[in-house]
Amino acid sequence: MILGIETSCDETAAAVLEPPYTILSDCISSQVDVHSVYGGVVPELASRHHLRNITFVVEKALKDAGVGLDAIEAVAVTQGPGLIGALVVGFSFAKSIAITRGLPLVGVNHIHAHLNAIHLEGHDVPSPYIGLVVSGGHTSLYLVKRPTVHMLLGTTRDDAAGEAFDKVAKVLDLPYPGGPVISRLAESGDPKRFSFPRAWLRDTPYDFSFSGLKTAVITTVKGLKRSGGRIPVEDIAASFQEAVVEILSKKAVRAALDVSVKAVVLSGGVASNLRLREVLRLLCEENGLLFLVPAPSLCTDNAAMVAGYGFELLKRGKTLSHDADVYSRAF
Ligand code: KG4
Ligand code: ZN
Repeated sequence: MILGIETSCDETAAAVLEPPYTILSDCISSQVDVHSVYGGVVPELASRHHLRNITFVVEKALKDAGVGLDAIEAVAVTQGPGLIGALVVGFSFAKSIAITRGLPLVGVNHIHAHLNAIHLEGHDVPSPYIGLVVSGGHTSLYLVKRPTVHMLLGTTRDDAAGEAFDKVAKVLDLPYPGGPVISRLAESGDPKRFSFPRAWLRDTPYDFSFSGLKTAVITTVKGLKRSGGRIPVEDIAASFQEAVVEILSKKAVRAALDVSVKAVVLSGGVASNLRLREVLRLLCEENGLLFLVPAPSLCTDNAAMVAGYGFELLKRGKTLSHDADVYSRAF
């Protein structure tokens, strides 16, 4: 049994996994209420809240799983990328459990954990496949050859897709995180009312750029605010969301056709967006590709995915020495 721990951003999470995919518990303490008043994550506050919650969350995960620490055979923890002060809390906690219990410690890359989350649902994914991770900090397109062998095909040059949702929400005076609220408003909006720009980046077609789109939305909103009329929040949300969804979907399918794979797997917090799931599924079907996406609770940050990817690393003997440290940036 593997204990997974995740503290890379604003969720303190712990899970117990009975490999390969029986999730015995998946416990999350969200800090959304702490950060929403600031319109985004405040790193120092995130660290303090992780410190306050980590013991309770890990104990709860063990209790929900109906096991004690003595049943745990390995500890998997997010090692990076993320906020350094936040990562350190979970990493030190995991390391101390591993050292005191004499257990193997596995360091998990948060993006790879998102990418691998689909396997926790027991799907048989035909490898190689295209994996698209879309979250608050990352927008990355991978060619996944085996669970632990991936080739990065492209990534964002500026804002991540989730970050663009969060920033657009802020200018519309909507709460953090922006993704869920924008997608809800978009349901009753007209996606064709505003034609916002799509950055196709023809020279590097698998890369993404969302800052131009974000700036166009912000400029439109500020212009409307200056003219004093009602802001058509629903139409702006729908038009913005449509642009993000179109870019993500077309680039993922383009990559799948270019490298001749049979499947596209979507993951990360933005993957819980219903419109993205719908459009990418349709585009995949039209092109004879299998489309897979985990349940929304496995798309947003959680510790089950950390334990799941930890298991893949453990199987391959990839454990950490006790002097290992966290890292903030993707590499
Ligand atoms: O993967 P995640 O939980 O944390 C990071 O690793 O960043 O992703 C969080 C991001 C936030 O930017 C949030 O606004 C976005 O995912 N998000 C969504 C939706 N739900 C969460 N974006 C669009 N539509 C959603 N339904
Ligand atoms: Zn994440």
